[in-house]
Amino acid sequence: MSTHKLAESEYDKAGDFYVNWLDKNVPDRDTQIRPSIEIMLAMLGDVQGTNVCDLGCGEGYLSRILASRGALVTGVDTSRILLRHAREHSNQLGITYFLDDAQSMNQVSDASMDAVICNMALMDIPDLTATFSSVRRVLVDGGKLVFSILHPCFFTPFNAENPPEDLDEEGNFKALRVTRYGLEGKWFSDGDGMCGTLGSRHRTLSTYLNTLSTSGFQLEEVSEPLAPVLEATAKRRESIVPTLLIAKSTALPT
Ligand SMILES: C[S@@+](CC[C@H](N)C(=O)[O-])C[C@H]1O[C@@H](n2cnc3c(N)ncnc32)[C@H](O)[C@@H]1O
Repeated sequence: MSTHKLAESEYDKAGDFYVNWLDKNVPDRDTQIRPSIEIMLAMLGDVQGTNVCDLGCGEGYLSRILASRGALVTGVDTSRILLRHAREHSNQLGITYFLDDAQSMNQVSDASMDAVICNMALMDIPDLTATFSSVRRVLVDGGKLVFSILHPCFFTPFNAENPPEDLDEEGNFKALRVTRYGLEGKWFSDGDGMCGTLGSRHRTLSTYLNTLSTSGFQLEEVSEPLAPVLEATAKRRESIVPTLLIAKSTALPT
């Protein structure tokens, strides 16, 4: 099994941008992203002793949680830089990391995984059909696929200088403008954040769900988590409009 045809990762082309972005924007992951991770883990159920692939594992935050819960974890990612960070932080956890592409998963054997979990990576991957078929190939019949994505209905291509939130005079969230929902493809904002630097691939909800269905999966559960309402309900976009879409599906027998 070879990785010599692997194209250079967009994350690696951007050097340390992503790890620095994480440090700056998500310094306390156990508070900031753990609630959505816990929803995904609840969808997976008990992972003790099961083979779980963390697809697009990045620097391995989720892989480490899975390993600490007794899963036999294989992390897959195309970024050499992020895999180096992942390996450095995973001593003695027994996690296997592969430099490999989600669209083929050449290094992962057929029917070798009980579950695949993919947190916030599908928007980076060009070919969704190839990715879901690779996931189906590595899963056992009845295996689970749990993924999270930026909510495709509410996080649509926009210009950073023209953010889609309308606020009232007090700065409270009032409304969200959904722009260019039907235009699929990679887009960049004008800013220097994630969407400005690495871009994001927009797909409609029907593309995600129909591709899942034609790739041999049955949708089981969907979650659109909202941030807790801290003060006045109208104040925060995240308390009213979901940022993420989380889905659980089962691999149908082939
Ligand atoms: C936003 S990061 C999320 C990382 C990780 N899942 C997490 O939650 O911290 C997206 C990840 O997808 C990886 N990625 C992008 N394209 C990929 C591909 N074709 N195959 C595998 N991983 C890919 C990136 O290298 C990056 O680590």
